[in-house]
Amino acid sequence: MQTEEQIKEMVQKKYADIALQTKEENETSCCGSGCCSSEVYNIMNEDYSTLEGYHADSDLGLGCGLPTQFAKIKKGDLVIDLGSGAGNDAFIARHETGETGKVIGIDFTPAMIEKARKNAEMRGFNNVEFRQGDIEQIPVSANTADVIVSNCVLNLVPNKNKVFSEIFRVLKPNGHFSISDIVLEGILPTELREAAEMYAGCVAGAIQKQVYLELIENNGFTNVTVQKDRPIIIPDDILSKYLSPEQIQAFKDSGKTIRSITVYAEKTCCGANCCN
Ligand SMILES: C[S@@+](CC[C@H](N)C(=O)[O-])C[C@H]1O[C@@H](n2cnc3c(N)ncnc32)[C@H](O)[C@@H]1O
Repeated sequence: MQTEEQIKEMVQKKYADIALQTKEENETSCCGSGCCSSEVYNIMNEDYSTLEGYHADSDLGLGCGLPTQFAKIKKGDLVIDLGSGAGNDAFIARHETGETGKVIGIDFTPAMIEKARKNAEMRGFNNVEFRQGDIEQIPVSANTADVIVSNCVLNLVPNKNKVFSEIFRVLKPNGHFSISDIVLEGILPTELREAAEMYAGCVAGAIQKQVYLELIENNGFTNVTVQKDRPIIIPDDILSKYLSPEQIQAFKDSGKTIRSITVYAEKTCCGANCCN
């Protein structure tokens, strides 16, 4: 059994390697593990290319949703992107917040921060900042952000409760977040979990959807809304490497799924103490 620190070290090492790869090398996978299926399938990553502010060289194919599309970012907002990678969502958020706003990307992998900073510099952006840090202790003062976004990151973090409590601390009163992530519905058979992890990554640390939503509510957020929810389909040719045809059928009939969800919630303030 790995400790939380060992898990974080492993994740950091993996993303240090991924930072040096192209989107094509990482493609077909939320976590960049690559894929060898011959089927046409729906994978975790979604098509950003139609969103304004999209820059192909910041897109390493690591997302599992489009949180910025749902984040209700307004001109002048201060937006924080948790686990910002090469800056993909941060630059889309920058387009939404405009010249009068600001975006801060946080990532704990130095190579990702370096890549994101280079991307920002290349475009002459002076209102996007990338800070190295662990999102279990977000390096931003309390009551700072209007909006927080994150794309396919919390599943990698051992203490998700701590991250939600940090999000609550850092959001301004009446601020909100929109987060895309991987969750599970039902307990997956061990072989299937292994197959999914080999296929797409981002599954090993994923928790039950219901538990995920409860963590958000238990941290004081209101108006918790699932804005998008879709199953991640693992192709049969991958499943058949790990499961018998009968086991594959049983899994399909079971209703157990790996899901990509985008969740919205608010830090609603209703009185003197409720946001402190
Ligand atoms: C799957 S990638 C997603 C990157 C980016 N959001 C995107 O969609 O392109 C996960 C990112 O989260 C970062 N990360 C993972 N755990 C973290 C933590 N505890 N604190 C800060 N960053 C973390 C990794 O370094 C990596 O860049």
